[in-house]
Amino acid sequence: MLITPDSATLQTLAAEHVARSLADAVALRGRALVALSGGSLPPGVFRWLCSEPLRSQVPWHGLSIVWADERLVPFDAPESNYYLTRQTLLDHVPIPADQVFPVATYYPGPQAAMLYQRQLEALLSIHGGQLDLVLLGMGPDGHTASLFPGFAQLDAPPTQLVAAVEHAPKPPPERVTLTAHALNLAREVLWLVAGSDKAPKVYAALHGPHDPHNTPAQLVAPRAGQVTWMLDAAAAALLIG
Ligand code: 6PG
Repeated sequence: MLITPDSATLQTLAAEHVARSLADAVALRGRALVALSGGSLPPGVFRWLCSEPLRSQVPWHGLSIVWADERLVPFDAPESNYYLTRQTLLDHVPIPADQVFPVATYYPGPQAAMLYQRQLEALLSIHGGQLDLVLLGMGPDGHTASLFPGFAQLDAPPTQLVAAVEHAPKPPPERVTLTAHALNLAREVLWLVAGSDKAPKVYAALHGPHDPHNTPAQLVAPRAGQVTWMLDAAAAALLIG
């Protein structure tokens, strides 16, 4: 766990961590499958990754990119996680376009989820069955990706890696999300959480009674992977007293 004084420092250190982790993954396995999230912190992390000295340290050509969750909006909508990632990362680095796998948000949610499941299964089969790095944020309600408290996707069967979501409490309401089973195929999960409104659920995720319907973040526990929490001091306030 790393606790930083503020969210700007968190983003800088997270970018350094991500660059190292991707370089290691590609050095070891020749390629890396990476799942990205939306939210307020990734853009700052991506901007550092696009700038020297990190830009030259990341083996961009070896990366394949998927999303931990996506909002069911057009590819060029400001709410799109794909769009956000394009603007802040993909347009500025040499990741081959055919190694970027956005959710097909032009289809209705269930079809988009079904296609993404097939896409993810195909990618996993050439990446040793694991996602090399999964970046996750957490909402003040304990949601992560688009796994929201009390929602049915929390109880997806083990073979279901992707689910459609309707009526999400965080807008926009229609989404596609990786399930906890998919997130738990990670070799590494990196949590990025900042802000005092997150403090109670950070505490619940790490030290609360197991109650994933209240705190979905508790479902993230990779079978063969490590979990790193990067928090700013405000989000960590209840951990450090
Ligand atoms: C999304 C996200 C979501 C996000 C958290 C944290 O697309 O909405 O993937 O799970 O990571 O809500 O977001 P903030 O850092 O903005 O609070």
